[in-house]
Amino acid sequence: KIPLLIDTDPGVDDALALLMAFNDPRHEVVGLTIAAGNVGLNHTVANALKLCEVAGVDVPVFAGCAGPLLHPAPDAGYVHGRDGFGDVGYEPAARRAEAEHAAQAIIRLSHEHAGRLLLVALGPLTNIALALKLDPSLPERVARFVVMGGAVTGHGNITPAAEFNIYFDPEAAHIVFEAFPRIELADWEATIAHGLLHDRVVDWLQADSNRARFYECISKKTREWSADRRGDHWHSADGLAMAFVLEPDGAQEIVERSLAIQLEGPHSRGATVVDWQRQLGLPDRVAILLRYDQARFEGLVRAALAAG
Ligand code: BDR
Ligand code: CA
Repeated sequence: KIPLLIDTDPGVDDALALLMAFNDPRHEVVGLTIAAGNVGLNHTVANALKLCEVAGVDVPVFAGCAGPLLHPAPDAGYVHGRDGFGDVGYEPAARRAEAEHAAQAIIRLSHEHAGRLLLVALGPLTNIALALKLDPSLPERVARFVVMGGAVTGHGNITPAAEFNIYFDPEAAHIVFEAFPRIELADWEATIAHGLLHDRVVDWLQADSNRARFYECISKKTREWSADRRGDHWHSADGLAMAFVLEPDGAQEIVERSLAIQLEGPHSRGATVVDWQRQLGLPDRVAILLRYDQARFEGLVRAALAAG
């Protein structure tokens, strides 16, 4: 099995992505390293542990950085609920997070699975940036690195130009994008191009499984929020990224370019500038997902909810 290490800030769409990963027979989730992001670290850690409990998996959970490297954090509690899981008041999981810090766990697991590790980032890149600072040789041991983040033609979600995961910690994103020789990117615009019809999602959530019942509950608020603002479709950024992770051959269009993270400017901070016309003559280090097989994506989501 392919060892899969997921850095995540659960978050309702992170939770869907995690259920997809838990359900995949070709991958083994070797750890969840937890970032602050959608909500504070106390909640993202508790949510990860709870999701594991509901899904009946005992993947180790490692708490990471409590906030961005340099600047104060924005908050996405209005999208995911104040606790990041729809404020349903669930009973906390019995299990605790491991003692090891997420950044150190990333380095250790990269050694244990050197040359085979599939690393995935579904939240702000703080933990991975810190891991790189502790051990700059990390990319040499990672076989594949997939990031959910960015807005490649400038249609942001948290600001007009920036996507949430990058905007939360642009300095961390800059460190990560400079360090890895190759990054596969599922950005916010790909998310918007691969919406899931609300009616279908509601149908999938009727599955007779603990996972579907729990997910129905924690996703209710954000689905309502999204129906009010974005119409017929619900958008699962991390779910699409995970489909790309698990079944990369479902990608129908990918373009490779260089990409720079913007650190300054009232409107441009956190933006991802892609050199579409290759004016800078830099190597094409980022493979940007433009189109993914929609039926494949939906099949993975549906199966993940029905399992367990
Ligand atoms: C990203 O930001 C978070 O709110 C989601 O979990 C996703 O990772 C989308 O911009
Ligand atoms: Ca996320």
